Amino acid sequence: MVQNVATRMAELEPEDFYLLSGVEHGMRFSRWVAAEKIPQFSRLDGDEVDYRLDRCMDRELLERKTIQYTGYRLTFEGYDALALRTFAERETIDGVGAPLGVGKESDVYEVRSFQPLALKYHREGYTNFREVQKEREYTAQNKHRSWLYTARKAAEREYDALETLFPEVNVPRPVDQNRHAIVMQRIDGVELSRAKLESKQVVGVLELILEEMATAYDAGYVHADMSEYNVFVNSEGVTIFDWPQAVPTDHENSYELLTRDVDNLVGHFDRKYPKETPELDRSGIADAVAANGFENVREHVREA
Ligand SMILES: Nc1ncnc2c1ncn2[C@@H]1O[C@H](COP(=O)(O)OP(=O)(O)O)[C@@H](O)[C@H]1O
Ligand SMILES: [Mg+2]
Repeated sequence: MVQNVATRMAELEPEDFYLLSGVEHGMRFSRWVAAEKIPQFSRLDGDEVDYRLDRCMDRELLERKTIQYTGYRLTFEGYDALALRTFAERETIDGVGAPLGVGKESDVYEVRSFQPLALKYHREGYTNFREVQKEREYTAQNKHRSWLYTARKAAEREYDALETLFPEVNVPRPVDQNRHAIVMQRIDGVELSRAKLESKQVVGVLELILEEMATAYDAGYVHADMSEYNVFVNSEGVTIFDWPQAVPTDHENSYELLTRDVDNLVGHFDRKYPKETPELDRSGIADAVAANGFENVREHVREA
């Protein structure tokens, strides 16, 4: 579990960020940044670097390892601190509040600002990175792809999708992106997985979600991770979130992924609301979504 770095931000000084940025820069070239290269990368003199290294190590913003040489790398907390500082400098956010959710591959916090916002730190690549085996594979291929890169790419992909889809599709409004983090509109509501829909709402909610998927497809995207965990329901309707693995509709697997999305969604309704959910022709629904011609589930009910 990555800790909330926001509480440590006030103690950090500009030079601490020079040091962290320097280590970040060095991590483009090697997994562990050699101690003697840090003055050059951070533009701090040797004594200053030593002092800042201690401070950042104490705050768990850096990790150290001695192999043939002593090297340092950012922890996720250190990377979080760099992103937070950027958001604060751009006046995107005033502060970070309580956790909103911990996902499979992210930490999401509420944000203090002039409007309700959410901050999502991507954590893709983190668990892999901790597996020694994987680390060996990376080295063997001489391919230096750290979690920094994987997580940043995921944040960029998610932000791009949100920018394309908002406002035609009900997704959180994108506000800002830096490194592995995105800031977006905070959605009030309850995840579909935890919602207790009344019988008469069930089919209508399923239809709303399928309509959003059809509009997204028309705008060029298949979600590709559709599930009851990535949909919020509230009195105004539904919001679909968690888009980092969204696939452009011209991608060769997009139809397959759309079918899987429809399967996951309809499967959830079948299991949770068996009485209210009619038996549906799922591939017919996928076709209608892809043609942006989805109107209602009645057209897709299988004859008994
Ligand atoms: N814009 C948002 N507003 C409010 N809560 C959010 C928002 N985005 C995500 N969350 C919360 O954080 C959790 C994890 O976010 P999600 O985008 O699904 O990431 P993951 O890829 O880790 O599943 C969600 O299940 C949800 O509870
Ligand atoms: Mg999710």
